[in-house]
Amino acid sequence: MKKVSVLFVCLGNICRSPAAEAIFLDLIRKKGLQERFIVDSAGTGSWHIGKKSDSRMRIAAKERGIIINSKARQINKDDFQKFNYILTMDNLNYHDVVNLRNEESQSDYSKILKMQEFASKYSEKEVPDPYFGGDEGFNNVLDILGDSVDGFLDKVLQL
Ligand code: 4NP
Repeated sequence: MKKVSVLFVCLGNICRSPAAEAIFLDLIRKKGLQERFIVDSAGTGSWHIGKKSDSRMRIAAKERGIIINSKARQINKDDFQKFNYILTMDNLNYHDVVNLRNEESQSDYSKILKMQEFASKYSEKEVPDPYFGGDEGFNNVLDILGDSVDGFLDKVLQL
């Protein structure tokens, strides 16, 4: 069976998207589905390339049993060939990814999605950027992502 490839995208790739990647990996491992997916994350910005995720996010995730291991990288045009789904965290990320796509490709466009489309418990339209805020912002992001990542997996499994 062909694997489903999923790329989570935020601005810096050190807070939201690596957390979403780790939560999704944890979920598919628990469900025994890890062989069916390729999972990665990336940032639209280049500031943090090669760095570990923000320690505040790693600590908040670890308290929930989620280990974040990824190193930051920047999204590039090749990612549109490699991934079936590109899940963006906020409207800025969404528009930056839309602008990066091959404009002639309808399939590039249709694979760019907003993470919050899949939330059922949280009504926020975006996953808020926790970088400049306090610790509670990181826990809030993890709550929101837990909800939307669950919803995303359910949708993919229905297809
Ligand atoms: P992320 O958070 O997009 O969730 O990784 C941010 C990380 C760094 C910056 C902004 C947002 N920054 O401005 O450096």
